[in-house]
Amino acid sequence: MTSHTPITSQRVPRAYRGAILHALSQNELAYFADGLLVVDSEGLVVACGPWAELKDTLHGVAITQCEPHQLIVPGFVDTHVHLPQMAVAGCQAPSLLEWLDTHIFAEEARFADADYARTVSEWFLTELLANGTTLANVFLTSHPGASQIAFETAARLGNRVIMGQTLMDRQAPDSLLRPADQLLRETESLCRQWHGANGGRIQYAWVPRFALTSSEELMSGLGELRRQHPTVYLHTHLSEQLGEIAVVKAQFPWATDYTQVYERFGLLGSRTILAHGIHLCDDELVRLKGLDASLAHCPSSNFFLKSGRFRLMDVLRRQLRLGLGSDVGAGPELFLLTVMKDAQYMQSDTLVPLATLFYLATLGGAEALHQGHRLGNFESGKEADFVVLDLPATPVSLYKSPVQSPGDSEALLSRLVYQGHQHWISETYIRGQRVYQRAAIVQD
Ligand code: GUN
Ligand code: ZN
Repeated sequence: MTSHTPITSQRVPRAYRGAILHALSQNELAYFADGLLVVDSEGLVVACGPWAELKDTLHGVAITQCEPHQLIVPGFVDTHVHLPQMAVAGCQAPSLLEWLDTHIFAEEARFADADYARTVSEWFLTELLANGTTLANVFLTSHPGASQIAFETAARLGNRVIMGQTLMDRQAPDSLLRPADQLLRETESLCRQWHGANGGRIQYAWVPRFALTSSEELMSGLGELRRQHPTVYLHTHLSEQLGEIAVVKAQFPWATDYTQVYERFGLLGSRTILAHGIHLCDDELVRLKGLDASLAHCPSSNFFLKSGRFRLMDVLRRQLRLGLGSDVGAGPELFLLTVMKDAQYMQSDTLVPLATLFYLATLGGAEALHQGHRLGNFESGKEADFVVLDLPATPVSLYKSPVQSPGDSEALLSRLVYQGHQHWISETYIRGQRVYQRAAIVQD
């Protein structure tokens, strides 16, 4: 056991006592049935461990006692999600390209209206917190005005996000398109204003939607921006459906595969986040690994659009940076525990270890977004992003259980993954500050 330096009340405004679960690595969890999470006045984790070991290090520190049915976990990380698709989540279509044409482009066009953009931005960013998501990598629309509104709203609500204007200069309705040079100017101006804003909670990403809506001029301009701003992210879609890939082949006949389209323009590297990557061949995976690019696995969306089965175990074995994404609105909901369950069900012939699923939704997601050094679990010195969950056999459970549930950490995590419900989120904290509290439930 490591020794802990005494904790004084000046440095420590709060300690949380209760059951605590967090991931130490892809295969290793730490669980304390009676644990303590100590957070200093800056919102940083001072210590996390068993109550019995830490209690003597507390001197005059205010302790919040969690209920016996509650569990503290790190905030969830959503590595791929679309803010402007909230209102059309769950609207089905036969394929990705038909879904974009039928539901998505028309909805995104509504963001030309600032009032509409403000309403949905506030709704989406509040819902992220209500779902326990404390870091999200977010697509916006192609409107600079609506993008500005989304950033202002995130700053006001305290969200931790990576976001960027979605860039399209072809193959979408005219109202969503702009010339490449204008897009490059607009997105760079938003980046200068927002990258690193709100104490580093807000980061910027270049967001070409996908190869089919991007001209070569747009992509080479973005390659140049990546070189000029090495800490800015690049977020796009890659290799999601076979029909999409066939059109990419026809439009970029010089490319040997989809990955090479982005590679040619210098869009791939560290801090590139690629959603889906379902139909990648071995060679593409090797190149992505070599470039240190990250993948966002979005199983709920892949089920919904019937996109195919992601090679989860293969990608894990190859040790690519990997996180989970809700991909709302192709994914029907923001709640990451449901996405964990879908990631399990998608692997029809392999049982994915629960620890790995939990890691992907927390620390793995943070590492995929290059924030694992400061987020993702309760290591001392990290920023205290966490969620307090109400577990079943409570007033908000799915079924009002008359009996005590099994208590070991494996059973607990299993029930979280297979039965977890958004209403179990009781409170959400970002850097030690409460940013969401569920309204009290009135019982009859
Ligand atoms: N490919 C291009 N645009 C989109 C989108 O909005 N959602 C998904 N799932 N895939 C895309
Ligand atoms: Zn998407």
